[in-house]
Amino acid sequence: MNEVEEIKARLDIVEVVGQYVQLKRMGRSFKANCPFHSEKTPSFIVSPERQSWHCFGACGTGGDVFSFVMRREGVEFPEALRLLATRAGVELPERGRRPEEERQRERVHSANETAARWYHELLVKNDMGEKAWGYVQGRGIDAPTAEAFLIGYSPPSWEATREHLRERGYSDAELLAASLLVEGEKGLHDRFRGRLMFPIRDVRGRFAGFGARALDESTTPEGGPPGPKYLNTAQTAVFDKGSMLYALDRAQDGIRREGQAVIVEGYMDVIAAHQRGFDNVVATMGTSLTERQVRLLKRQTRSIVLALDADAAGSEAALRGHEVVEEALRQSEDRETVAVVTWRGLVRYQDAVSVDVRVAVLPDGRDPDDVIRSDPDVWRELIASAPPVLDYRFRAAETRHDLTTPRGRSEAVQELLPLLEPITDPVMRAHYLQWLSRLSLVREEELSGMVTRRRGARRAPEPAAGAPSLTDTRGDARREEYLLALLLRFPYLRQAGLEVPDDLLWESANREVLTAWKRSPESTVSDMVKEALPEELKAHFERLVHWRLPDFSVKQAEAALAGCREGLEKRQQTALGRANAALLAEKEEELGASTLAEAAASDTDPDDDRMKEGVGVSRAGQEIGLRIHGKQQEEDGGEAAETIADG
Ligand code: UTP
Ligand code: MN
Repeated sequence: MNEVEEIKARLDIVEVVGQYVQLKRMGRSFKANCPFHSEKTPSFIVSPERQSWHCFGACGTGGDVFSFVMRREGVEFPEALRLLATRAGVELPERGRRPEEERQRERVHSANETAARWYHELLVKNDMGEKAWGYVQGRGIDAPTAEAFLIGYSPPSWEATREHLRERGYSDAELLAASLLVEGEKGLHDRFRGRLMFPIRDVRGRFAGFGARALDESTTPEGGPPGPKYLNTAQTAVFDKGSMLYALDRAQDGIRREGQAVIVEGYMDVIAAHQRGFDNVVATMGTSLTERQVRLLKRQTRSIVLALDADAAGSEAALRGHEVVEEALRQSEDRETVAVVTWRGLVRYQDAVSVDVRVAVLPDGRDPDDVIRSDPDVWRELIASAPPVLDYRFRAAETRHDLTTPRGRSEAVQELLPLLEPITDPVMRAHYLQWLSRLSLVREEELSGMVTRRRGARRAPEPAAGAPSLTDTRGDARREEYLLALLLRFPYLRQAGLEVPDDLLWESANREVLTAWKRSPESTVSDMVKEALPEELKAHFERLVHWRLPDFSVKQAEAALAGCREGLEKRQQTALGRANAALLAEKEEELGASTLAEAAASDTDPDDDRMKEGVGVSRAGQEIGLRIHGKQQEEDGGEAAETIADG
C-alpha cells in the first residue's frame, strides 16, 4: 500500500469533512450545504461507503478526501498529502527509500501467500494433513469454505516451511521479516509447526499473516512444551493484529448488503458464520477492540454489533473485568499507539460519529461457532435483538447491583454516570438520565449536574500538585485568547475545539467568541463568526484572528490547543474542587452511602487521570475495557505480549 492508500485507509472522510462543515446524516450518507458554493438547501453529499464527496448543485463535482482538502484549504496535492498524513499518523517516507520498503512489504505478502497456498494443499490433498483435515470436518467446516478461507496445515517440522520457500526464492531475511521463521536457541526455525493455519488477509485481500491453531497431537511432537492454543504472526511491516479484522476482506459485500457489521472474537466463529450465509461477520482475533478496527468498519457501515460471550459480558465476575476504562493504550512495535475502545468510547462513537453500536450477549458458555452450528435462527435472533450499548450497560448494572439498597444504587450510579459523560445529544442524554434517576432514586437534575461536573473536570490533572494560583489571571486570560486564536486559524482543530466546554473560558468576551465559533457552520470563514458577534466584540475578534502564531503543523497546533486547555482546566479544577467538597458532604448525609461520595469525588481524584487520553490505568482489578480474551500467550519468547493490561 502506498502512503496515499494508507492514509485513505486510516482516515474516514466523514470525520475529515465533518471538521469543516456540519454534516447531517441522510440514510447511508451525510449531507451539508456545499462548502464550495453558497446555497440554501444542501446538495453536498459525503458517502462513507465510497469515501467520497460530491456536490450535486452548482459545483457538480466531487472527489476523495484529498481533493476535498485541496479545494477547501486551497492547496496543491503535496500539501494536502502532508496535512492528511500528519492527521492519519502516516509517516511520509523520505524520497528514494520508499520503493525499497515497498518491495519488502510485497515480498512479505507474497511469502505469506505462497506459504498459505502450500499449507492449504497439505491440508486437503496430502497424507500429512489427513488428521488435521479430519479435525476441520469434525468442526463442521465444508470443503468450499475451507478453500475460500484457505485454511491449511503447517507440517510438524522445524524447517519444512523454510525449505519450501527457499526453493521458491525467498531468503531467510525475507522469511524472518514475514515472521514465518523465528530465531530460536538452536538457530532459525519455522514458526508454525503442525498447526491448523488461518491466513489473515488485509482489507484488500493481501496475505498479512497467520493465526495458527494447535491440534491435539501437535502440541509436543518433539517433546517440547505445548504451545498456546493459537499462535499468531508477530508484528511485521504488514501485520498488526490491532489494526486488522479477520475476514474483513470477505465480509465487505455482506456488510454493505446488511448495512451492519458483526464483530466476534475468533477465527472459527467467523468461518462458521460465513459458511451459513452470515457473511457480514468479522473477528478481532481475541484482542480488545481498537479504535483502528472501528475506523476500518466505519468506512463500510455505521451499524456495528459486538457479539460478546457470556463470560465477557454477562456474568457478574467477568463484568468486573470489563469495566469502564478510558482508552488504554498499547504501544506497538512501530511505536504507533493503538487505542483500545472502551464502553465509554463506544458511547462516544454512538453519539459523536453516529455509529450505532449494539451488544449481543451469547448464551452462557457458548461461542458464536456453537450457536450458529446448532441453530442459525438463534444467532439471527440474537443479532437482530441486540440492544444499544448503553441499554446493555444499564441492564447489566441493574442485574448486578441490589437496587433495593442505597449502597447498591450508589454503586450503579458510580458505574453508569461516567458513561453518560460523552453524550451530547440532549434527547439521548435525557433518556438515560431519566433511566438512571429511576434506578438510583436520585433526582435527574442532580445527576445531570454530576455529569456536567465530571465533564468539566475531565482530563484535569491532579489538582494539588502544581495548580496555578488563582491570582494568575493575566496569564489565564492570555491563554484563553491563545486558545481562540488557534481555533480561528487552524480548521483541523474543529473537533477538538467543539469539545472545549464553554465555561472553561471565564472572560465573557472570549466565551462569546467560542460560542459563536461553535455555532457557525462555516467556522473557518472568520467573517461568518464575526457576523454572529455583537458589535462591541468585533474589534476583540479581529485581534484574535490576527494573533501572531507560528506556522504550526497539525500536530503542533493540536498540542498547543491541548496545552491551553490543560492550563485552563487547572484553574477550573481548583475552583471546582471547593464547590464539590461542599456538595459531596451534603450528598453523603442524604444517602448515607459513602460510595456515592466516592463516585463523585473521583472528579477530583488523582486516580481519575485515567480520564486523560493516553492513560490506561483504572481502579484496581478493573483493567480491561473490551478485552475479550486473556488467553493469548506468546511462544518462542522474545515477543511482547499482545494483550494490554493483563489484569
Ligand atoms: P477462542 O479460544 O474462543 O478460540 O479464542 P476459537 O476461535 O473459538 O477457536 P476454537 O473454537 O476453540 O477452536 C478466540 C480468538 O482469540 C484468539 C484467536 O483469534 C481466537 O480465534 N486467541 C485465542 C489467540 O490469539 N490466542 C490464544 O491462545 C487464544
Ligand atoms: Mn470456539
